Order: sequence, then C-alpha cells, then structure tokens
Amino acid sequence: MQATKRVLFVASEAYPLMKTGGLGDVIHSLPHALRRIGADLRLVLPGYRAVLAQLDSVRILGWLDVPGAKRVHVVRILEAYHADFAFPIWLVDCPILFDRPGNPYMNPDGRDWPDNAERFTVFARAATELAQDVLGMNWLPDVVHANDWQTGLVPALLGELDHAPQCVFTIHNMAFGGHFSLAQFNSLGLPRHWWTVEGVEFYGGFSMLKAGIVYADEVTTVSPTYAREICTAEFGCGLQGVLQISRHKLHGILNGIDETAWNPAIDPYLSAHYSAGRRQPGKVLNKQTLLRRFGMVAGETLLEIPLIGMVSRLVEQKGVDMVLAALPHWLEHTDARFVFLGSGNEEYEHQLRMFAAQYPQRIGVFIGYDESLAHMVEAGADMFLMPSRFEPCGLNQMYSLRYGTPPIVYRTGGLADTVVDATPGFLEQGIANGFVFDEPSSEALIVAVNRALAWYAQPRLWQALLRAGMKQSFGWEHSAQAYLALYRGQYHAAL
Ligand code: ADP
Ligand code: GLC
Repeated sequence: MQATKRVLFVASEAYPLMKTGGLGDVIHSLPHALRRIGADLRLVLPGYRAVLAQLDSVRILGWLDVPGAKRVHVVRILEAYHADFAFPIWLVDCPILFDRPGNPYMNPDGRDWPDNAERFTVFARAATELAQDVLGMNWLPDVVHANDWQTGLVPALLGELDHAPQCVFTIHNMAFGGHFSLAQFNSLGLPRHWWTVEGVEFYGGFSMLKAGIVYADEVTTVSPTYAREICTAEFGCGLQGVLQISRHKLHGILNGIDETAWNPAIDPYLSAHYSAGRRQPGKVLNKQTLLRRFGMVAGETLLEIPLIGMVSRLVEQKGVDMVLAALPHWLEHTDARFVFLGSGNEEYEHQLRMFAAQYPQRIGVFIGYDESLAHMVEAGADMFLMPSRFEPCGLNQMYSLRYGTPPIVYRTGGLADTVVDATPGFLEQGIANGFVFDEPSSEALIVAVNRALAWYAQPRLWQALLRAGMKQSFGWEHSAQAYLALYRGQYHAAL
C-alpha cells in the first residue's frame, strides 16, 4: 500500500465557480479523479468577486503579507466548502486585485487587466506560502500542481526554498504566455538571478509560462501529440527551444472528461435523454428543441436535414475564420443548417450575426456564454465543427463523441489523439468516430464537411460511426493514474 499523496492544486479557474474554457473543466474533473484514487487535495483559487458570491460557508484561515508591485498586500486566506467540490478550496482574497466583475483575465472591453502581472504574482506568492503551511493548517503537500501561465511563478518560487514539495506544471495552452516587461519584473521585486535566458527572460521581457516550464520538476501538457508539437517552431510560441531541452521532464497526458456532467443519459440540460444503445427518440427530440431555440422551423421533413453545431471561443485558434470563409459555399451547395454558440473576437461575432440575420432558417447564432446551450448543441446537432489550427487537448470533441455528434476536426494536438477518421478501414475495425482533415484551410474543411454529409446520407454507416464514438470511454481513470505515477516518480513514457 503506497502512502496517500497530498496534492495542492493551484489554478486560475475551476468549474463551476469560474470557467472561461476547458481549463476550468479540467481543474474540476482532474482533482476529483485523483481523489477517487486516493489523493488528498486542496485547490487554491484567486478570490474573484464571482467566486466569493457563490460560496456561503467560508472561514478565515489567516492573513499573509504578500509583496506586490512596490507595495505589500495584506491577503486574507479563506477556506470554503462547496457542494460541487469534495475537498476544501483555499481562496486568495485580495479585493484590490480580484474583486472585479466578469472575466478573470480581461476588463469588460476585452483588454487584459493592466495589473495582471501583479495579480498573478501575488496569487503565486500566496500559493507558495500555503505550500509551506505557513498558516499552521497541519497540511503540508507532497506535490504542488500548478496550471498555465497564471501559476507559472509557483515552480520558480518553490525553487527558492530549501525543502520544497515536488512541483508539477501543466501547460493547457502555449498561446497564453503571461508576458510582461523588465520594468514590471523589477517593480514586483522578483529575484534578480531569474533574469537570464535559462531563467524567465523572454525577448527582453519575462514570461510566466517559461518560468513554469524551466523551474518545475515535471512538465506536462494535455495530449501526447501537443507535447511533441510544442517542441517545434510551428507550435512552440517561441519556447520550443526551452521545451526541447526540457524533454526529459515533458509528458503528454490526455485530458479526460467529467463523464457524469457530460452524459446524455442523465444530462439535466437536455430535453430528452438517450444513450449509445438507445439513441432515438432522445437524440432527435433534442435536435427539435435546439432548432426551435434558434427560431428555426423543425417540422418532420426538415428534421432530416443535417444540423452542424459549433461551440467555441471565437478566436483564431479555433479556425473560426475558416468556417466563415466556407459558409457561403455550404449555403449554396448543401442544404445543411448550422448553429453557433460562442464569444470572443468582435469581428467574428459580427460576421456570424450577419450570416444569421441574412439566413435565419439556415444559420442560428448565439453570441455569449451559456453552459446549458452548450450541452444542447452537443446533443441536438448531427455533427460538430472543431477545425482548430492547434488544440492542446480539446474537450468539446470528446463531449460531441459522447453525445453521438461526430466531430469534424483538423489533425492537430488532442484532436488527432481522440478523433479517428471515417475511412472504410477504420469503420471496419469499429474505431472510426469522426472526420479528420490534414490542411488548415477552408478548402480542406469544405471537403471534410462534404464527406461527413455524404456519410450522413447513408443511415447505416452514419449510425455505426455514431455508435463507435458513443461507446468510447473518455473518463479520467487512465490519465489520473498517469498523474499519480508522475507524483510518485514512477511515470515512464517517452515523448
Ligand atoms: P478551450 O479551453 O480552448 O476553449 P476546450 O474544448 O478544451 O477548449 O473547452 C472549451 C470548454 O468551454 C467546453 O466545456 C465548452 O463547452 C465551453 N465553452 C466554450 N465556449 C462556450 C460558450 N460560448 N458557452 C458555453 N460553453 C462554452
Ligand atoms: C486549453 C486548451 C484546450 C484544453 C484545455 C484544458 O484551454 O486550449 O485544448 O482542452 O486547455 O486542458
């Protein structure tokens, strides 16, 4: 029997308290999966306004003096229990930095908060103090597991200690580097000896993501393919060199999904339930509800027309421009209908709205963030569009597989690791579950969608594809074991 591992998770969002994307989902589902296999956990989050508003049983653990930008903050550490969390949450409560409306990283105009460097330095410093049990909670972690640039200074700060717990740093997306200036570095009073090319320096400024990579004992990213891709100039966002020399400690561990929250047999957001063995009438009833929700006519014959869904941050990463460029073709040459749920880049939002206004019976658009609608699109659409240019893991394609909504994806990152192209050979082996294309272009996307539409027109083939995806398991069991092995120094997988 191996000793229980105490793991301190540090992250900037966790579903359902705060979520801007897949990071939030993972920071809820992974710690719970680890707990199921015996880990003892605490999760440290910033005390955002929206998070504090959702908590009712909170107690003060103590106060810490934490240096910020040329000032010292008196930070309150709160402990909260929440119905959706099976372990305590520790909050870094510093109103001047975190008591703000809306998005955790950006102001209401969509620009980064100007004091993000200070906000996440204070957060990292507080988390590092908690990792040393400075408040006397009688809980010292064996492992600190930090995530993405917002926590990148945690491994660096732990590296300054004589007796630090092991530190694992997970990269969820290289595209967000946490880049700041030398002036900010100085005003934050960060250790001078970090300022080297081998340390945090990055093109004349510094990168919190780089700090995480350089100083962590182990670095993981969220799929095996992305782990290889980020060691190249195309995907490394300037840090490919650092990643190459860190290969010995870099591992790709595929994300799992929360198979309870994303289960069409019990999902409370759906209008009808269904499962791999009993897909109808549940699946088609959801399609009807979804179409009506977007004001589209959903009579019996119209229900047979393919409906293609997309749920996404509307940013370049997700290939939204390729979809926008392909829409006129699909409008003219196919009868497919589309529903889009997302928010992000204003230009993309505007263009989608224009399409919906011009073709209200072909294109439905909801700009915004809506958890329940996301579940409805997964369930009600016939196919799911996810032509990301890069995708560290991607959760939506796994949700769509589970919901019998074959994904159409570009072969990259976690998409390449989870979607098996519908070729006759793979179909025969029973493993084909979606459509994969090899060029990040709207032309290649059009060809892939045409292939999907041709399969859709052959019900027997289509049902076989859909069944294969729905039967697959995307749970955390395997990957949680991999993390635990990593914490125990027993993980051996070559990149
Ligand atoms: P990323 O983290 O890069 O955005 P993922 O596929 O890993 O991509 O995760 C995206 C998560 O965010 C999914 O849970 C998805 O359902 C959700 N999501 C994205 N946009 C929206 C939206 N507009 N409304 C509701 N949920 C959304
Ligand atoms: C990031 C990535 C996404 C991944 C998620 C969770 O947001 O863009 O691919 O699934 O993190 O790890």
